[in-house]
Amino acid sequence: MKKVVYPKIGGPDSIEIVEAKDPVAGPGEVRVRVHRAGINFADLMMRQGLYGSAPDFPFTPGYEASGEVLDVGSGVERVAKGDRVIAMTGFGGYAEKIVVTDDRIVKLSDSISFDKGAAIPVAYGTAYHMLVHLGSLCQGDSVLVHHAAGGVGTAAAQICTAFGASLVFGTASGPKQEFVESMGMRFIDREREDFVEVCKRMTDGEGVHQAIDPVGGKHLMRSYRALRNGGRLHVFGASSAVPGERRSLLAAMRMWRSTPRFNPLKMMNSNKAVFGVHMGRLKDEQVFRDHLESLSKMLLKGQIDPVIDSVWRFEQVADAQRHMHDRKNRGKVLLDFS
Ligand SMILES: NC(=O)c1ccc[n+]([C@@H]2O[C@H](COP(=O)([O-])OP(=O)(O)OC[C@H]3O[C@@H](n4cnc5c(N)ncnc54)[C@H](OP(=O)(O)O)[C@@H]3O)[C@@H](O)[C@H]2O)c1
Repeated sequence: MKKVVYPKIGGPDSIEIVEAKDPVAGPGEVRVRVHRAGINFADLMMRQGLYGSAPDFPFTPGYEASGEVLDVGSGVERVAKGDRVIAMTGFGGYAEKIVVTDDRIVKLSDSISFDKGAAIPVAYGTAYHMLVHLGSLCQGDSVLVHHAAGGVGTAAAQICTAFGASLVFGTASGPKQEFVESMGMRFIDREREDFVEVCKRMTDGEGVHQAIDPVGGKHLMRSYRALRNGGRLHVFGASSAVPGERRSLLAAMRMWRSTPRFNPLKMMNSNKAVFGVHMGRLKDEQVFRDHLESLSKMLLKGQIDPVIDSVWRFEQVADAQRHMHDRKNRGKVLLDFS
């Protein structure tokens, strides 16, 4: 079988496709024939050696996949050969065949395509964890979403709509205005407008109930300022450390040095909260599985519907990642291993 490998730190052209031995499912494990694997921004960061919890090089990236169960090891009862499933791989999802423990598998309804299935775990799991689980999203809330046109951004917009949020601000680059508006968000051009000013102005000077910030660095303090009294900021990424295809240690250092140190007494006085979210490092996997169960129900009810930007043959993985570096995606980017 074939799989994608990051051999060393590098640009997209460093990525290799290699022949590997078929994996075997041991006790409690499930072997899956992958149809689609999701590409996440984290995969771009780890290729540049800027992702703390990535394995040592060489390794195969890929947090999530959808496919069919080929066989199961002893003791597995939740799924059987032939079942359509979503797999939370952790790493290693960019492969024709994968093996995962059965607690990292969720059944995929026949009515949901492999594309939509693979688009769910990371983007929707993360958005749901922040907005609903930690943030207690309520009807009438206002929410600020950055990278609004991307995988997590579009997931967040749909979850906000499903929970009755009244106003969702979405920041993105200018060419994405129409798309962001089509997702029901109030577009903010991140290069030309001051999102703090827009959020305050459009909420009678109060600010938003929640902001989700994957940009990092000094951008975080601006998101914090956009909150109202009682507001929650979710810090969940550092895209400002990745300005392009090649690694920039300068940008990474700038991001790190400009990251604000929040003052708990000031937070107390304004009733604001700051959450740090890294789903890959969440120890209690049951929490994540519960999110996926809730999201599967929302998917079946039509309350969420993943936006697929594009599906690339896995041999085109470098171009697919360039497409994200070039900020061209609107929704989720997937690899086709079928
Ligand atoms: N902590 C967690 O558990 C977790 C989980 C999932 C994702 N994340 C984070 O959430 C963010 C979004 O992830 P995603 O997978 O959904 O990706 P994505 O949003 O689809 O990423 C691509 C988009 O991000 C925007 N962007 C902003 N700065 C960028 C930069 N420096 N380089 C390239 N694109 C940039 C671009 O849109 P514009 O044209 O609008 O700028 C681009 O189209 C990432 O920072 C990621 O690390 C964190």
